Amino acid sequence: MTETPLPDLEAILLVGGQGTRLRPLTLGTPKPLLPTAGVPFLAHQLARARSFGVRRIVFATSYRAEMFSEAFGDGAAFGLSLEYMTEETPLGTGGAIRNAAQALTCGPDAPVLVLNGDILSGHDIADQVATHVARKAAVTLHLTEVDDPSRFGCVPTDETGRVTAFLEKTPNPVTNRINAGCYVFTRSVIDTIPAGQVVSVERETFPGLIEDGALVLGYADASYWLDVGTPAAFVKGSRDLVLGRLVSPALPGPPGDFLALPGAMISAEAKVAGGSVIGARAIVESGAQVSGSVLGDDCVVDSGAVVVDSVVGIGARVHSGAVLRDVIVGDGAVVGPGNELLAGSRVWPGVVLPESAIRFSSDI
Ligand code: GTP
Repeated sequence: MTETPLPDLEAILLVGGQGTRLRPLTLGTPKPLLPTAGVPFLAHQLARARSFGVRRIVFATSYRAEMFSEAFGDGAAFGLSLEYMTEETPLGTGGAIRNAAQALTCGPDAPVLVLNGDILSGHDIADQVATHVARKAAVTLHLTEVDDPSRFGCVPTDETGRVTAFLEKTPNPVTNRINAGCYVFTRSVIDTIPAGQVVSVERETFPGLIEDGALVLGYADASYWLDVGTPAAFVKGSRDLVLGRLVSPALPGPPGDFLALPGAMISAEAKVAGGSVIGARAIVESGAQVSGSVLGDDCVVDSGAVVVDSVVGIGARVHSGAVLRDVIVGDGAVVGPGNELLAGSRVWPGVVLPESAIRFSSDI
């Protein structure tokens, strides 16, 4: 790791997606603003980008755009200068980068960092940028290795690191290296993306550049990496940050077994662990067990309830004897006593589950 600060690097942050896989959490709040280890998810990315020398970030917004400027303003609190570029209709990842680039101040030869707004990564951004500049690449893609690449597009490279193809999902991937959602573009390359239309970097821009013989480089490493796009991954991300498996300058407190936000009340007879977050003013009663979970502000977990690897929304209530494992409970929902919800179940905001109504479910 070099972690050398870079002089005045500009970045574009892609945050315009609807986060459909994280519904119902994303019905009211965009994915990048969901509370994660006690702060909005993006706070971790902003703090990390800042630590590598990024000073100015253009947010490419669309879905619930106004919520981003309300949350982060001009960025001064983060030591950053933030701009917001909003697409009236979403332009896809490539169209969003092109649109946001209008707010960049750098010249055509400068490197521009582009970050997906739903990735937690421990990789050395400065080294990725330095590699891009040294090799005079058009684009340098962060690549990460996953156990099961069949769920992702895969990105093979030659022995010099040059990307040879950008392949769609397939049951028999040729490599387990995948696109990790952090790119360095030479500014002039962004200007070649068609303006004002829907473009996907994954399906159009990168394959097109490779076909045209441009130097598209892979920057592969084995550091911590997680795409928080699914409920299970979102909970894991929060857990890993609280436990210190990924160090974040934005974590509000030292890493530990759990994080209790101001006003949280946890009974001395409750068991809270596994990197859980207990939201502000939330209550965890005696004999309750909360592990690896995110409890929203003002929610209540009654005595004897068990909450494992789950999200309990703002103001929601989990009654005595209820068991939740790998579950999303929407804001204000009530899980009555004795219910048992497992494996990806989701309770929509405001839904009230009567006593012992469910023994394992999917969507309610
Ligand atoms: P799902 O709907 O659950 O797939 O999530 P998503 O909407 O976030 O889509 P995906 O994970 O594929 O997006 C990757 C990144 O690009 C995320 O940070 C999105 O916010 C962002 N993104 C996707 N499409 C657009 C778009 O049309 N405009 C902008 N500005 N950002 C986008």
